[in-house]
Amino acid sequence: MHKPDQSRTPYIDGLIKYVQENRLPFHMPGHKQGQGIHPLLKSILGDKVFPYDLTEVDGVANLNSPTGILKEAQDLAADLYKVDQTFFLINGSTVGNQAAMLTMANRGEKVLVTRNAHRSVYGALALGGLIPTYLQPLYDQNLGMITFPLPQQLEDALKKDTSIKGVILTSPNYYGFSTYIKEFIDITHRYNLPILVDEAHGAHYPFHPQLPPSAIEYGADLVLHSTHKTLSSFTQSSLLHLKKGKIDAYKLNSYLNILESSSPSCLLLMSLDAARMQMATQGYELLSQAIACAEWLRNEINSISGLQVYTNEKAKTSKAIADMDPTKLTIMVNGIGLNGYEADKILGRELKIEPELADHKKVLLFITIGEDLSRMKEVKKAFEILATRYRNTTKPITYPHPPPLPPQELTPEEALKSSSESVELLSSLGRVSAQMVTPYPPGLPVISYGERITLEVIEYIQEFLEVGAEVHGLNGEDHNPKIRVVS
Ligand SMILES: Cc1ncc(COP(=O)(O)O)c(C=O)c1O
Repeated sequence: MHKPDQSRTPYIDGLIKYVQENRLPFHMPGHKQGQGIHPLLKSILGDKVFPYDLTEVDGVANLNSPTGILKEAQDLAADLYKVDQTFFLINGSTVGNQAAMLTMANRGEKVLVTRNAHRSVYGALALGGLIPTYLQPLYDQNLGMITFPLPQQLEDALKKDTSIKGVILTSPNYYGFSTYIKEFIDITHRYNLPILVDEAHGAHYPFHPQLPPSAIEYGADLVLHSTHKTLSSFTQSSLLHLKKGKIDAYKLNSYLNILESSSPSCLLLMSLDAARMQMATQGYELLSQAIACAEWLRNEINSISGLQVYTNEKAKTSKAIADMDPTKLTIMVNGIGLNGYEADKILGRELKIEPELADHKKVLLFITIGEDLSRMKEVKKAFEILATRYRNTTKPITYPHPPPLPPQELTPEEALKSSSESVELLSSLGRVSAQMVTPYPPGLPVISYGERITLEVIEYIQEFLEVGAEVHGLNGEDHNPKIRVVS
């Protein structure tokens, strides 16, 4: 069979050709390929980028029904990832979750959702009028984090309720831990249902044997990759992969058309074409370098007194964790008398190292294909300073145990569409939430649309606020947070 040439970049080449034609632009965008750009922006970005900031001009292809160079670029991505079809996304994996879930089930139908899902999944439930049945993830005291539900929970839920239309699994998590995805996929398929795996943090997995397996390998029907998170494509660009059979590809494309901008940025699409080619031609080498950098830094930081970096062995002691992405460095800082939020601030503001996130006891560093050893040495030095100059005696704080699932009183859609009012969090007990509240990290909603607010939920949110963690969705003053409830 003819093997496509993965070193090609058909979309980028097509744009270069278009720009070289020097057509006078009497179309959008209004800056006319840079002519009307303010000098301030030019002085920051240079002037090479603007001619390429185009959308859907002649021959550049239409994201709604890709033909020509855009179709070629998407087909190359599908070939590389070994799937039937790949969609380029310009509104991140967020729009991928939305379109995929709207395709999987109709209004009033049930889907099984692992509760460790990103907020875009909860948003899609509300948008589509879907009825969620949640699988509660385990909480691992040792790791101080919410992990995943067990495959047996999925089996039990599917056995119990034959009206479920599809399964949404989120793996890996932010920290690079993944669960027993093969088991989840196999069980779902035994019930002849489709499964969407939100693998937003695993776009690099297929390109190196030391990385965890991708859900694509096990035949997931839909797999999402935020290529902007771990590969080199621009922020907001992602891939949605489809294995044909259980999913209506036409419907999926229709939902993407409805939800995405009708003026897709050629810059985002070019960056996807380049990221795919980069992985195809240099993925193994670049990821080997990233893994080597991460391993070096892991060992070095582990040898600093008071600091501890998670290893695969430690992660696997957790019942629901099957694998760990070695490029994610989860560093426990409580041994030097700091909590994660304090360490994060010192690292960023004083030591000029910006972690991806912090939680009660940890900070998380992403090591990606952009790394080299000299940068790792700088990071090591920063952690040495953190562990000496900033060593403290802050009382250790423990990540709170997540509350039991709150009762679902209205469907997410009913709650979203109801009229609502803002009430003080402390007086919201027993009210039905008209919104999501999401403590960061782990970025998993503790309360979602239509759920009754319990005492445990309020206490959980307060524990996050008290330690200075971010809690998305609350309004009102910091000292008097408010929440929107159905009125
Ligand atoms: C697990 C997961 N899924 C989906 C998303 C949404 O991805 P994007 O930022 O590409 O829209 C995120 C973002 O953090 C995520 O962590």
